[in-house]
Amino acid sequence: MDPSSIIVAIDGPSGVGKSTVARRLATRLGVPYLDTGAMYRAFGLKVLRQGVDPKSAPEVEALLAATEVGLRADAEGTVLVLLDGEPVEALIRTPEVGQAASTVAAYPAVRRRMVALQQRCGERDGGVLEGRDIGTKVFPGTPHKFFLDARPEVRIDRRYRQLLNRGEEVSREEVAGEVTRRDHRDRSRGESPLAFDASYTRLDASELSVDEVVAALEDRIRSGSLPTCSNAAAPPG
Ligand code: DC
Repeated sequence: MDPSSIIVAIDGPSGVGKSTVARRLATRLGVPYLDTGAMYRAFGLKVLRQGVDPKSAPEVEALLAATEVGLRADAEGTVLVLLDGEPVEALIRTPEVGQAASTVAAYPAVRRRMVALQQRCGERDGGVLEGRDIGTKVFPGTPHKFFLDARPEVRIDRRYRQLLNRGEEVSREEVAGEVTRRDHRDRSRGESPLAFDASYTRLDASELSVDEVVAALEDRIRSGSLPTCSNAAAPPG
């Protein structure tokens, strides 16, 4: 398999373990790993920093025009996000930035910008891309589409432990509220809502370890018979 031709799409709700799975799978396949949520988070951070109302379309669009979101690969093949040239990974994982990201991600203009950048990156080097719309909008033609899911209480626990490990002071109730609100918004927005269709393999990771999920995805990819990607139109629906 030529790594630069492999595009793996991993979509799913928050707290399901997409990032850990995608990073490990990318290492195993020898392709870059791209966390597309980090790009929406970077722009969400800018919106918060500038005091722009995330619900005001004209304000958000004006700010987008004055913002540069860039990508740079580190030595391990992880693609890091830059906000106006500044590496912001350490600043974008808070619940506040997550909410702002989810709100601004509903704007078509924001999605167009981020999707174009994701496509450029994937077309050049291949990659494992994780997000909400990778298999439906970013690379609808790839045969390697996975929808990772888990029961809500498992996802809330995961997100809660993650934030505690990062030193954030949050209660489980706050995390439950954040995950539920964000999921609802990501699934119900008009533009590229979180969804999957028959072209995806859906996996419930509630009872599986990260290694088990990675192994299941890798098996499926390596046994697949159509190892190339294209930007063909998404299937209807
Ligand atoms: O994956 P994440 O939790 O870091 O994503 C943050 C927000 O960005 C998420 O609530 C919805 C949005 N997002 C999106 O709309 N499309 C993507 N491909 C990735 C993330």
